[in-house]
Amino acid sequence: MVFFELYTLNFEPETLNLIFLSLTLYPLTIIKKCIMIKFYKTDSIPLELHKARVVQKINLVPVERRFEAIKEAGFNTFQLSTKDVFLDMLTDSGTNAMSDNQIAAMFQADDAYAGSQSFFRLQKSVEDVLGKKYFLPVHQGRAAENVICRTFVKKGDVVITNYHFTTFLAHLLENQGSIAELLCDDALTIKSDNPFKGNMDIDKLIACIEKNGKENISFIRMEASTNLIGGQPFSIANLMDVRRVADKYGIMLVLDASLLGENAYLIKQREKEWQENTMADIIKMMTNLADLVYFSARKLTSSRGGGICTNRKELYLKMEALIPLFEGFLTYGGMSIREIEAMAVGMYETLDETMISQSPGFIKYFVEQLVALGIPVVTPPGVLGCHIDAMEFCSHIPQNEYPAGSLAAAYFLISGVRGMERGTISSVRDENGVELLADVELLRLAVPRRVFTLSQIKYAIDRLLWLYDNREMIGGLKFVYEPPVLRFFMGQLEPVSDWPEKLMAKFRRDFKGSL
Ligand code: F0G
Repeated sequence: MVFFELYTLNFEPETLNLIFLSLTLYPLTIIKKCIMIKFYKTDSIPLELHKARVVQKINLVPVERRFEAIKEAGFNTFQLSTKDVFLDMLTDSGTNAMSDNQIAAMFQADDAYAGSQSFFRLQKSVEDVLGKKYFLPVHQGRAAENVICRTFVKKGDVVITNYHFTTFLAHLLENQGSIAELLCDDALTIKSDNPFKGNMDIDKLIACIEKNGKENISFIRMEASTNLIGGQPFSIANLMDVRRVADKYGIMLVLDASLLGENAYLIKQREKEWQENTMADIIKMMTNLADLVYFSARKLTSSRGGGICTNRKELYLKMEALIPLFEGFLTYGGMSIREIEAMAVGMYETLDETMISQSPGFIKYFVEQLVALGIPVVTPPGVLGCHIDAMEFCSHIPQNEYPAGSLAAAYFLISGVRGMERGTISSVRDENGVELLADVELLRLAVPRRVFTLSQIKYAIDRLLWLYDNREMIGGLKFVYEPPVLRFFMGQLEPVSDWPEKLMAKFRRDFKGSL
């Protein structure tokens, strides 16, 4: 029983009230299940277990305007203006729908530079949900990465990880460290049925520590739901194995918990030993195994902000001084107090399986439909979004002409749906300026929590199918402005030929007067 399980976690009565307030909106039998609901005469669909009470109007502008917009954006979807975007599937970062309870909490914010009660509520939520006593607030996830890398990475160090994330890698390189990605064998296999492609390879882990010497390893970093390889989770069994090795060599284990809720949900779905446990149990188990936990609250708690937490006071003290230097005072860390209140409520809502399962449920639907249509997509379905395999979709585009970037631009042009390139444009050049071709070329179509309807997902699928049938018309891109760091954000590109004009003309012919 959910209520019984919550009591056993020893929450304070106020906290329990807060949790009950959100949970009692739903029948208890549904809370324990995923959101696939059986229909009478058709297949099950992921039914929305929420209602929209505040809505935002969006525009579907004609293909001719979309063409101008993507040109103005330098064929980089980060540079588009939302007035031209129909379905914004760029990211879930800061775009998940907030709950009524989060919005309500923002009105009781205690604005103060120091000692705000809002901060203490957040600190308590971190302790209750993530099980860590010492908490440092930061303005977003990459700020945590800055603080952690500055504190623990010395020149020439190696950080071992299941897979890098762009901003983490940028901070690691900034501190003159390097990365060792010790993926499991299936991690980069696009079509796979391995339920835990985010697992770290334990033999490679031991070999890497032996090769580099434990004193040169800053820490081991496990990213929950490895973002860049398609939102793929790791298992608790794997995290336990990593912990054992970390203990054996005396190396710190850091958990990137930005997508912790979704990883925990997939553990509940896919790891037999944990199927009967609550989200709270699974999340606590994961965080207990790590020495240091950090997160982007833009993802984890559907708010803005971020944080670092630990039970080891000496680690906390090493980082503490950097917070006032880079973020703000220790009781707001660069965040607005209102966001801190929303974050505290969002932290407890991470335990609500109904809420957490909404996005993975839609993604599963999205992916399964695409598989049925023969469109190449990362499987098994992960979290965060649906990941199209651009290397196969655009197999005629050489990797140094950026298949995933080209597909992202083409897809926006013909649909108004904005996705994100997760391939070589998101990669870096080596010290000699040579392009490091990405392991995978993905177009990520993010499905933020409780934002889109199923008919919008169906539209996204329909337009992808049209583009797949016309895929030979998509051409490559080349940089015309390439920033030295995190080039994918601000970079400007242009098509290698007039393929966008031709694609637009074909769209017009096929869809006639339709948008
Ligand atoms: N770690 C992970 C796993 C992330 O996915 C992100 C952000 C960060 C750290 C950095 O957090 O944006 O708050 O500074 N991911 C976003 C995305 C940008 O679109 O996937 P941040």
